[in-house]
Amino acid sequence: SSPLRLGIAGLGTVGRGVVQIVQRHGDLLAARAGRPVVITAVCARDRTRDRGMRLGDYAWEDDASALARRGDVDVLVELVGGDDGPAKAAVEAAIAAGKDVVTANKALLAHHGQALAEAAEDAGRVLRFEAAVAGGIPVVKALTEGLAGNAITRVMGVMNGTCNYILTRMQSEGLPYEAVFDEAADLGYLEADPALDVGGIDAGHKLALLAAIAFGTRPDFPSVALEGIERISIDDIHRAADLGYRIKLLGVARMTGRGLEQRMSPCLVPATSPLGQLQGATNMCVLEGDASGPIVLRGAGAGEGPTASAVLSDVMDIARGNRVSTFGQPARSLATAKPAGATAP
Ligand code: HSE
Repeated sequence: SSPLRLGIAGLGTVGRGVVQIVQRHGDLLAARAGRPVVITAVCARDRTRDRGMRLGDYAWEDDASALARRGDVDVLVELVGGDDGPAKAAVEAAIAAGKDVVTANKALLAHHGQALAEAAEDAGRVLRFEAAVAGGIPVVKALTEGLAGNAITRVMGVMNGTCNYILTRMQSEGLPYEAVFDEAADLGYLEADPALDVGGIDAGHKLALLAAIAFGTRPDFPSVALEGIERISIDDIHRAADLGYRIKLLGVARMTGRGLEQRMSPCLVPATSPLGQLQGATNMCVLEGDASGPIVLRGAGAGEGPTASAVLSDVMDIARGNRVSTFGQPARSLATAKPAGATAP
C-alpha cells in the first residue's frame, strides 16, 4: 500500500534522531504499519553542515512552511521549536494544506495547542505530541489509551531532566547550584533559553498538557503555579537530606472541589520513594487512575534517541490509521477548567 511520506522540519538533536530511526528501522516500521514510512523532504537552516548522515535522497526546503505545503509530504514533523514564529506558521500551513502534524514542541502546544488542535480537527487532520511531554516516556499514550477506562485522580512527575540533574548533582557531590548549572550547560541539557528549564517553565508547559489529557480540560498554562529551582541552596538540600527527604522540581495536577490545581515547584519527597530515588537527567511520571491505581513511568525525558522514539510513536499511529485525538477526546469537547487558585465570586 501507499507509503506514508514525512517532511522533517528541523535537523537538530531530535530531527537527526528521527532520520536515523527511519533509516535504520525501515523494514521494521513498514512491517508494523503495513506500509512503508519514508522521508521525502527536510528543512534546516544550514544546508551545508555535515550532520554525519545520509540526507542526499531528500528534497531540501529552507522554510518549514514551504516544507509543510509540499505535495510529496503527508505528515509534517515539526522539530523546529519555539512557542511562536516559524514553528507555529509551519503547523498552521500544514493543517491548511490538509497534512497531519507530529510535533515535540511543548512551548508551542502549551500556548496554542487548543487552537491548533481545533484547526486540525476542523480540517479532518490529527495533531500529535507524544514527544512534547517527558521525551521518551510514552506518557501521552499511557493516559489516552492504556488508562482510557479510568477517571484520572492525579498526575504528578519530574518532567525536566536538566533540573533533576542539577538537584541530584548538588545533592551527591555537594556542589553549588552555579557549578552544576555550568555542567548541565556543557552537557547540552539546557534549552536555548535556560530560564525555561531552571524557572520551571518548560516543566510547567508539560504539566499543563498532561493535565489537559488527564482531566479532559483545555490546556491552561497560565494557571500553573510555577516556582523554579534557582533559589535552592546546597544548605536546603543538606537539611532536607538530614530529615530523610530529597528536593525535586515536582509537578502535580489534580481536580479538587475548588477546580483544577496545577503546581510545578520544588517539593520535599521521601528519599526512599521512587521520586526521591530518581537520579540525573531523567523523568518520572506518576499517573493515578481510579481503577488502575498509581502507575509509575520512568525514563529519559530528553535527548536524540528518546525524543525521536516518541516522535515515531505518533508517526506510527498515523501510518496505522489511528486518528484518536492526542488529547484522548476531540479538542472541541475539552472543558474549560476553573483554576483551583481562583477565588469564588
Ligand atoms: N530541557 C528539557 C529537559 C528538554 O531538560 O528536560 C526536554 O524537554
